[in-house]
Amino acid sequence: MLAITGVTLSTESTAVAAVLGERGAPGQGDPYFPLSGNGGYTTRHYDLDLAYDPATRRLDGDAEITARASQGLKTFDLDLSGLTVHAVRVDGRTARWTRTGQELVITPRKALRRGETFRVEVSYGGVPENVTDPDGSPDGWISTDDGAFVAGEPQGAMSWFPSDSHPKDKASYTFRITVPTGYTAVANGVLTSQRSKGGRTTFGWHQAEPMAAYLATATIGKFDVQRYTTASGIPVYNAVDPREATAAAPALAQIPAILDWETKLFGPYPFAAAGAIVDHAPDVGYALETQTRPVYDRAPDVGTVVHETAHQWYGDSVSLTSWQDIWLNEGFATYAEWLWDEQHGEQSAQARFDGYYARPATSSLWAFPTADPGTGANIFASPVYTRGAMTLQELRTAVGDAHFFTILKSWAGSHRYGHGTTAEFITLSEKVSGKDLGPLFHTWLYTAGKPAQP
Ligand code: ARG
Ligand code: ZN
Repeated sequence: MLAITGVTLSTESTAVAAVLGERGAPGQGDPYFPLSGNGGYTTRHYDLDLAYDPATRRLDGDAEITARASQGLKTFDLDLSGLTVHAVRVDGRTARWTRTGQELVITPRKALRRGETFRVEVSYGGVPENVTDPDGSPDGWISTDDGAFVAGEPQGAMSWFPSDSHPKDKASYTFRITVPTGYTAVANGVLTSQRSKGGRTTFGWHQAEPMAAYLATATIGKFDVQRYTTASGIPVYNAVDPREATAAAPALAQIPAILDWETKLFGPYPFAAAGAIVDHAPDVGYALETQTRPVYDRAPDVGTVVHETAHQWYGDSVSLTSWQDIWLNEGFATYAEWLWDEQHGEQSAQARFDGYYARPATSSLWAFPTADPGTGANIFASPVYTRGAMTLQELRTAVGDAHFFTILKSWAGSHRYGHGTTAEFITLSEKVSGKDLGPLFHTWLYTAGKPAQP
């Protein structure tokens, strides 16, 4: 069998695998996170049966993954870090497995044929350890004083379930999460069941539309639950830590208005459910647009809810092909906040732009190019968020409001449930506006330093 000796091997091992037709690559070859995701197959569905005890912090899981081989496979990988694997089965038969770093390397009894659909079952458990991101932030299964805050961007999914952990590969999900009665377990999509027995409660959730692994959650705590259906028919499920309830109430009350407003701007809401998870997780330091139901580490303000809700279109429904393009998520969600303010009696997006543009050339805002942040440590920095939003304001100025808002809607519509790249966004913008936008995007997306006055 081939040894994985380092990240630089991924291209080479892909080439070797192609020759041998037998080993799926250990990563999707993302320049920033080379081992995230795996080669040789695509996933269709994850069925996650989880039990968590907040007192001992122990997680037990049975994951069943349905996938389709895109090449002949004698061996393939899933991403999983920490935890103990008890058994692996492929199509019901015990399979051999080994672990190297974040790779769970599986060798089924019988090699898989190209095009074959197969089912992998992994039973595992232990005390999950969150992943530390290149920028030092915690990611994945982050235990709290009353449960766990679970958010996996960019690579934390592997801390709590085995997956093809790259946004290129999206799948539907089913969750059954068992916790001591009194705790609430909140995942993505629609709540399908809730049953208590013998002091334990099991929550069933179903996420039907395709989802990237990093957007999965199974956040657990002692939550107050609010449920209602918006006038436009979207079921909302909010879970709120009582310690955050008063501070969170004003922003949560805006959820239906935000959904309606964003639907008008971006096109139909992509998912069958919505809501919010407001946790009390003071050490986390961020919110995440977990699909259908963003998770907040504390009571959010309205701007943050506007931002995470905008990600449902830009980031969740339209996914990244490469982490380098993260501005397609963060620049758009930040621009949504600017638009919300502009259309709700606050400063205009242009005024926001001008305020940022006034920053000196030495500001960290100009430290690196928006669409080429350089390393995984920079993906959540201001040149991605703020300068990303500034790029959209520049585009708006160049093409005019009518074309600009058509571009926003078409981007969400034409890549719905799929993927996008910066190059595709530029092509779409030029097609809609009939303008050569090469120089504008080159300056704003691919050049470091403060752009010359437009
Ligand atoms: N995408 C999140 C947002 O809406 C930020 C996630 C930050 N994640 C992290 N590991 N630091 O802005
Ligand atoms: Zn964001």
